[in-house]
Amino acid sequence: MNEYLEKFEKMRIAGNLAAKTLDMLTENIKEGISTNQIDKLGYEFIRDNGGYSAPLFYRGFSKSLCTSLNHVVCHGIPSEDRILQEGDALNVDVTTIVNDYYGDTSRMFCIGKTSVKLDNLIDATYEGMMKGIKILKPGIKLGDIGYEIQSHVEGKGFSVVRDFCGHGISNVFHEPPNVLHYGSKNTGLKLEPGMTFTIEPMINAGKYETKVLNDGWTAVTKDKSLSAQFEHTIGITENGYEIFTESVKGYSKPPYV
Ligand code: MF3
Ligand code: CO
Ligand code: CO
Repeated sequence: MNEYLEKFEKMRIAGNLAAKTLDMLTENIKEGISTNQIDKLGYEFIRDNGGYSAPLFYRGFSKSLCTSLNHVVCHGIPSEDRILQEGDALNVDVTTIVNDYYGDTSRMFCIGKTSVKLDNLIDATYEGMMKGIKILKPGIKLGDIGYEIQSHVEGKGFSVVRDFCGHGISNVFHEPPNVLHYGSKNTGLKLEPGMTFTIEPMINAGKYETKVLNDGWTAVTKDKSLSAQFEHTIGITENGYEIFTESVKGYSKPPYV
């Protein structure tokens, strides 16, 4: 019967390891830790649990996960020099490979007390992602996902990053289709059972434009406004969807206490 069930079983295993890695990090990320220490913890946990970190050596990336702080939109490179401090908001993006299949997920972490504006941005980003996920079923179109996210976050006064998007994922890290986080209802590719892709909106407090720093990776907001992101890897089923990267410990969004 369903020829994609085997693929889903592998996506479940890789996605679960990625989620558990973020769960473990949730209990370790605090003021005073460097983003490089987070990278090391993630690398070791994934290795010790039978997986590989997909970012390591991916197109020349030198670390095992991405750490994107404050006005960094995505692809921040872990560093020994960057020590987390009160008021910081950090996205950690983990991608695992287990038995050739990929699990890709990210969450936000707040260090100590963060501003109301930042908390609102993080809430809107998470809610936007979930609104994009909750409508998923065969027959809807990719543009419907973008519409849900964009209308929610723009309604809160925030903007959707255009320069990066979600992506198909299976036994390849990034594959078609591109999953835009903005768009119009009833446009784009029609969803079918068995499709697997990420939804990973990057939402800015200011304008949506980004630029990449000289390191070739770190993407920041052009206007230096704050940015937030969450990411899940999902699969389309016969009548809905499955999230492969759900937290095992209920650590879906901050505060995690
Ligand atoms: N995990 C990122 C994504 O969501 C990709 C990171 S690529 C890296 O697609 F090389 F920067 F790690
Ligand atoms: Co991704
Ligand atoms: Co990712």
